[in-house]
Amino acid sequence: MRKNADHFSCAVLTMSDKGSRGEREDESGPMLQEMLRDEGYQLRAYKIVPDQIEVIAATLMEWVDHDKIDLILTTGGTGVSPTDLTPEAMRKVIEKEIPGMAEAMRAASLLKTPHAVLSRSMAGIRGTSLIINLPGSKRAAMENIAVLLPALPHALDKIKGSTSDCANLT
Ligand code: MTE
Repeated sequence: MRKNADHFSCAVLTMSDKGSRGEREDESGPMLQEMLRDEGYQLRAYKIVPDQIEVIAATLMEWVDHDKIDLILTTGGTGVSPTDLTPEAMRKVIEKEIPGMAEAMRAASLLKTPHAVLSRSMAGIRGTSLIINLPGSKRAAMENIAVLLPALPHALDKIKGSTSDCANLT
């Protein structure tokens, strides 16, 4: 359990053409849900969508604007193949980018694999929600999100306008 994580709702969105047609089992989505529950977040939604910009963007906007979900993790579609379109959808959705989050994930991942540079993942804010992209494979998704987990409750507090003093945190 992460301190203060239980203040926030969360959701997981898997990007996969095959997964959305039921032709491939989604391993990363369930793994991320379990991890978020273990951290203490309140899981509200999970969906598999095809790699289509408009479908991805519409789902993210519905979860933020209508359902007011605080934290959304996406998995898949961050790479460089023609069907990888998660960052293109993100650019339609987010209002502020948080480059440091993606930079930290790629920097840590580069210590594990040279292929880390192929992830175009982004993190950003829409309204008062935080959206973070992760690569599609189970191992890659976990290696990436592990870097950010310690910073998430404070990030979510700040995104919601908390004026708490950052200097009191380690
Ligand atoms: N990051 C970590 N930590 N571990 C990995 O195995 N795989 C890379 C990269 N980031 C990987 C990683 C690979 S091979 C690709 S193609 C990109 O993430 C993009 O993945 P995606 O297209 O499934 O989103």
